[in-house]
Amino acid sequence: MSDERLDKILAGSGRYTRSQARAAIQSGAVTVDGVPVRRPEVKVSRASRILAQGQVIEGEEHVYYMMNKPAGVLSSTEDGAWPAVTGLLPRHLQARGLFPAGRLDADVTGLLLLTDDGAFAHRVTAPRSEIKKVYELTADGPLTEADAAKLAAGVVLADGTAYRPAALTIDGEDPSRASVTVTEGRFHEVKNLIAACGRRVVTLRRVAMGELRLDESLAPGEIRALTEEEKNRCLM
Ligand code: URA
Repeated sequence: MSDERLDKILAGSGRYTRSQARAAIQSGAVTVDGVPVRRPEVKVSRASRILAQGQVIEGEEHVYYMMNKPAGVLSSTEDGAWPAVTGLLPRHLQARGLFPAGRLDADVTGLLLLTDDGAFAHRVTAPRSEIKKVYELTADGPLTEADAAKLAAGVVLADGTAYRPAALTIDGEDPSRASVTVTEGRFHEVKNLIAACGRRVVTLRRVAMGELRLDESLAPGEIRALTEEEKNRCLM
């Protein structure tokens, strides 16, 4: 691993802009292997233990965030009709070119992963990985155990689209509410599965990917960095 400027490593962690990184270093708040370094241009190894304001800076090559996606923004950038979710990111993360790992429709809310790591995004989203995605939904009427059995068997649409088996768990008190677990994450998958039961999805929220749950303390539109352990949990 080649050495890199300390301010660049700090900015690369996604926690600081380049100018914030310089200011933090010059104030003496950054240590490298226990020694305060006050010159932003000093080159250090990514393998060094870097602490900035008491927090470990991994010298990450990539960054990983979760967002509680609000309704009314698109997770992709391909449709000009809605603003893109990346527009909600702070400027230094927009500059890093973060993109969503797995799309959500404009009206769908909840857990959205954002990263600049293409290989990670591919692993999370590729149907072959069979990463579970859990959604909570309300439908326009009650769902039944027959619907759950239908989804468990694997729905085939009239146009021949075949979905993998999905698990539907209906709320005991309000059968128009349910959670659905899918392993593919195809375009409009949950809406199409519920439509195949003769119902329409009214609200849809993703609450988990792999073993990672949405942090319910995040307000709509808010983001936070994933810990290394959380990042790995997405892939389970
Ligand atoms: N299923 C849908 O129908 N829409 C989404 O955004 C995600 C899953």
